[in-house]
Amino acid sequence: MSKKTLRSEAWFARQDKMGFYYRSWLKNRGFPQDQFEGRPVIGICNTWSELTPCNSHFRTIAEHVRWGVLDAGGFPLEFPVLSLGETMMRPTAMLFRNLASMDVEEAIRANPLDGVVLLMGCDKTTPSLLMGASSVDLPTIGVSGGPMLRGIHCGTPIGSGTNTISMSEQLRAGAITLAEFHEAEADMHRSHGHCMTMGTASTMACMVEALGVGMPGNAAIPAVDARRNLLAREAGRRIVQMVREDVVLSRVLTREAFENAIRTNAAIGGSTNAVVHLIAIARRIGVDLSLDDWDRLGEGLACLVNLMPSGKYLMEDFFEAGGLPVVLRELGEQGLLHRDALTVNGRTLWQNNADAKCWKRDVIHPWSAPFKGDAGIAVLRGNLAPDGAVIKPSAASPHLLRHSGPAVVFESIEDLHARIDDDALDIDEHSVMVLKNCGPKGYPGMAEVGNMPLPPKLLKRGINDMVRISDARMSGTAYGTVVLHAAPEAAAGGTLALVENGDTITLDVPGRRLQLEVDEATLARRRAAWRPPTPHTDRGYVKLYVDHVLQADQGVDFDFLVGRSGARVPRDNH
Ligand code: FES
Repeated sequence: MSKKTLRSEAWFARQDKMGFYYRSWLKNRGFPQDQFEGRPVIGICNTWSELTPCNSHFRTIAEHVRWGVLDAGGFPLEFPVLSLGETMMRPTAMLFRNLASMDVEEAIRANPLDGVVLLMGCDKTTPSLLMGASSVDLPTIGVSGGPMLRGIHCGTPIGSGTNTISMSEQLRAGAITLAEFHEAEADMHRSHGHCMTMGTASTMACMVEALGVGMPGNAAIPAVDARRNLLAREAGRRIVQMVREDVVLSRVLTREAFENAIRTNAAIGGSTNAVVHLIAIARRIGVDLSLDDWDRLGEGLACLVNLMPSGKYLMEDFFEAGGLPVVLRELGEQGLLHRDALTVNGRTLWQNNADAKCWKRDVIHPWSAPFKGDAGIAVLRGNLAPDGAVIKPSAASPHLLRHSGPAVVFESIEDLHARIDDDALDIDEHSVMVLKNCGPKGYPGMAEVGNMPLPPKLLKRGINDMVRISDARMSGTAYGTVVLHAAPEAAAGGTLALVENGDTITLDVPGRRLQLEVDEATLARRRAAWRPPTPHTDRGYVKLYVDHVLQADQGVDFDFLVGRSGARVPRDNH
């Protein structure tokens, strides 16, 4: 059998001026000549940054991957890419997801790499790295950074995001003091790692494992547990083997893998953000995933996992209960998984998970006695969202899943903030809150503002949920009867832009309907008078974003990034 030609040989096997450049400038770090002779070169794509606190331990993880690569006879080379910190970046890290994906794609293609290990944790770092890597399609393994330890405040577990929202509402309603609020900040986040609720970061780490692009156990091992480092080392060993076996990413990220991930998202009560991210990743690798796939595959599925925001436990509990392998085993036993889907460790998804054991049944429920029913992401259509909108029924109030009420309209997030605390605001618990101009083009960047805060005058009366509709996203740690991702968005001229105060809106989640009860002639009149909002800027990346971003139903990717260009070796640089 002939020896496999490595992509990196186009750099390192040359015995000429160019080969001298390529080898010599690495030899200054102490790499001997034999390092350049037949060893797979593995890029360790690192999103470490002090501005991304969730990924602040990634230098350590990278070292464990490096040792694994060396164990297996590979040549590890670590490189940084744009890191997206969810808590720090304004106006929203989502504005930069596509930019980071371009960084990843071009950094991989431009360099002498045969395979990559992606280090990701905070919300947008996972999809941006997977999107970029998908467009190149080398052998690839994703290693998540792991969740933080559980937060503890006054002896009670508290979860990132979920309790931030509830405590800020308590502060606004005068139920807790500012000193208590400050104390809880340190109590909540007390270790390395990403948010430890089943928010977007944990959801995406579960998606990595369910897609087969992560090693078994990837989703739940806490960031500070030594087993996270063991997993990283195993990933480093395995990626070298994947290069030798030519297991490229598209052999793992198949339609079957995405269908497994969608069902897994329902079973974990996962974030609505996974909808846009998985669609974007799928379209990069060449799988035409749609909103209809989400509705079809998730319908009737139950949530098995009792984790915040839908439940009460945290990721550390999930890990101790057995983690995602237990969920995958439950789904597989019901015939709800493509069991033969290939994973990065060379085994099928079923081979990896068939024997998983559950140690805490209150945390991971069995299929026969699920934690909550109807957990799949529901896709709504109607004149208010002809291209679709989504809602997470498991995080909604059952009595609001069928509801008609008068609209209370906010034209922008600034308008909402200016008026929501005003006791004179004409709103009650039957109203439907509508927020415009927070979609991909409108914000821009489709911020997580869809779970609008409720008016204090209703909070004080004990009202803790209302129907809320927007073209925005919602944090995966949030909850409520919140309709998101309405497409087309208001700033693109969607019907959402035409809603006026007092219009009746009907939400019917079981019937998958979202309707503005206004006659066509009136809507046509309003449409003729509608003017698009003034652009936020006419230069730079934000202009590129607004000019090229696709709507939520297409994954909010750029129109020119859909698909892949492959791993072709670029022209010489001299
Ligand atoms: Fe980074 Fe939540 S802020 S995962």
